[in-house]
Order: sequence, then structure tokens, then C-alpha cells
Amino acid sequence: MDRRFVYMDYNATTPLHPEVKARMIEDLEVYANASSLHESGRAAHARVEEARASVARLIHARDPSSIIFTSGGSESNNTVFATMFHLGRKGPRRGIVTTAIEHPCVLNAAKWLEEEGFPVRFLGVDSKGRIDLEELRSSVGPETLLVSVMAANNEIGTIQEVAAASGIAKAAGAFFHTDATQCAGKIPVDVEAWNPDYLTLSCHKIYGPKGIGALYVRKGAPVVPLIRGGHQEHGHRAGTYNNLGILGFGAAADLALRELPEYSGRVRRLRERLRDGLTRKLPYAHVNGHETEVLPNTLNVSFPGAEGESILLYLDLEGIQVSTGSACASGSLEPSHVLLATGLGPELAHGSIRMSLGRDSTEADVEYVVEKLPPIIERLRRMSTVA
Ligand SMILES: Cc1ncc(COP(=O)(O)O)c(C=O)c1O
Repeated sequence: MDRRFVYMDYNATTPLHPEVKARMIEDLEVYANASSLHESGRAAHARVEEARASVARLIHARDPSSIIFTSGGSESNNTVFATMFHLGRKGPRRGIVTTAIEHPCVLNAAKWLEEEGFPVRFLGVDSKGRIDLEELRSSVGPETLLVSVMAANNEIGTIQEVAAASGIAKAAGAFFHTDATQCAGKIPVDVEAWNPDYLTLSCHKIYGPKGIGALYVRKGAPVVPLIRGGHQEHGHRAGTYNNLGILGFGAAADLALRELPEYSGRVRRLRERLRDGLTRKLPYAHVNGHETEVLPNTLNVSFPGAEGESILLYLDLEGIQVSTGSACASGSLEPSHVLLATGLGPELAHGSIRMSLGRDSTEADVEYVVEKLPPIIERLRRMSTVA
């Protein structure tokens, strides 16, 4: 088989959609400050508001003013936790309930609140990566300020029962936040059905530019700005409008909504083919995450006796780009907190890779990986038994 270039790391980031790219090249001309009152400022402002409406449509938000543009998912999540810091310092409610498998930008924001004296509970997950709703119910009470449960996990793709979690938080009088960064464009995101107070989005995961994201804020939910200054975003996030990023986000949101049904069906079939091809050749491979409640593009697999970073590097030599579950933290390679939370031992967690498919993935890509990956695993397993 000829060497191919196979990008299977779409959960890390996506390339620009060709239509987004074409529209952004034209939009490079939209230079005016969207807060300026003159004609070009008003024209830029109108375009920003169109983009806001597009992002609102993507998540079925009726009111475009519920969308605050931010620099990305990390900022949106941090805005929620910073808001809770200010509310909790002054009010009677201080309890934070989140999960052990959140993205580090939620986990570390929650740990910051813990250091500041807020009681924080990190809910565990089952072997498929799902929280237990009964445990959530018994963890919330009149002291709970915020429940934050990610809608789908970036490493294993498991989708949570967001509407039910939101209902439990609301019944206790707490705010509910969900990080939907990995959902948009892959599964329907519906704030009407999920009923969050806050919902996080990031544009670079949906074939738009990097450095732009959004926080949906339900009407009436408080926001304390992380960035103070001018009156942009109704005073919720200061700074001159990032015209190009925002317009790119609007374009990406339009396309993500339009392409979702075709896209999700196509990548789901590719994912199944990849999973079946790999597990047929490597019967000891362990597929992580939920069997059905999983992002259609995400396949996380552990290979006993092989080490994730080595797999990644050997695959890279073959032109295949994936991620591992490990994060290089403080000089040592820590196994993935997500995989450990699902009950995987450190050895299996270390031997895991995430393959995330996307718009440009093809059957030929899948066949190439099914051909190239098994001998790499076999070789690494032989090396580890020799050692
Ligand atoms: C679930 C999740 N939340 C938040 C983020 C952070 O988003 P951003 O890169 O836009 O800051 C990511 C990105 O990897 C993510 O996967």
C-alpha cells in the first residue's frame, strides 16, 4: 500500500472548511471596528450580528443575544467558573459539582475554586464514561451553586444524559453548565431540550478558525466578565470585536448545521469500519467509551502490552496522525485522567490511542490504518515481552 497522509485527529482540531476559508478571505476586508457608529462600523456590526444569529441557530437558541463571543472553549468555561467565584463569595450557595472526566480547562477551573474554599465534588463515571444520575441527584442540594457536566468527552466520545443532568441541577436551584465543545457539528446540540444556563462552544472544532468560541448564556443568568473594558458583548466580554474570527465562526456554524445529518452518518460508518477492522485483526484490543452513546467520529482503543506514545510515533512514520490518552505533565507522562476514571489500569490507559475522524476521512484512510496499525501493535507487544 502506498504511503498516505491520514489525519485522524479531528477532535484536537479541524482544518478550515473550504467554504469557510473562501468566505474568510473575502471577510478580510471587514476591518472597521464593529462598535464604531459610522457607516463601515455599522456594516461590520451587522455582519457580526449575522454571525451571532448563525451560532445561535446551530444550538437552537431562539435569542441571538444569548451568545457571547469569546476566544474559545477554554475562555468560555473559565468565564462560567469565574462567575461562580464571584457569586459564591457573596451568596449562600458555594457548592460545585462536576465530573472527573472534564477537559482540563474545566477541571483546573474547578480545582481553583476548591483552593479558594469552595466545596467541589468530582463525580466518577462508569466503565463506559457515563456519570450516574442518581449519584448526581444525591450530590446536589440547597448549597449547590453550579453543576457542570460535559456533553461529550473529547477523549472517548461518550455522550452524557445532559437534559436529565440539567433537570437535576435545576430542581436543586443550581445553575447548569455544559461543555459542548466536542458536540457541535457532530450531534444535534439543542439548548431548548438540554436547558442549560451556560453552554460552551469552540469554533476550531467545527472547521472554522482558531481563537474564537462562544458561551451561550440563558436569559437572566449572571455573567461576571473575565475581561473588563469596553461595552462589547453587553459588558460580558470586553475587547474590539474579532471580526474575522466571528465571521468565520458564523460561516462554520451555518455549514455545520447544514452538513450535520450527512456528516454524522458518514463518519459513523467509517468509525464502525475502523473499529471492526482493528478488533478483527487484534481481538485483544479494548474499545473505550460507550457502544452507542458516543460521538460518531471518535474511536479510542487500548492495546495491552503496547505503549501509546510509541504507537503514535510509529503511526506518524506511516503518515497517520492520531492522539494518545496521555498528557505530558510536569515532565512525566501521566496516563489519561479520563481512561483512569473509567476504571482502566495505568498500563492499559498508557496503551491507548484516540482516532477521531472528520470531513475529509475516507474509506481508503480507514483501510490504510487497518493495514498499518496491527503490525505496529504486534511489534510493540513483542518488544515489551522481550524487555
Ligand atoms: C471538551 C473540550 N472543552 C474545551 C476545549 C478547549 O477549547 P479551546 O481549544 O477552544 O480553548 C476543548 C479542546 O480541546 C475540548 O475538547
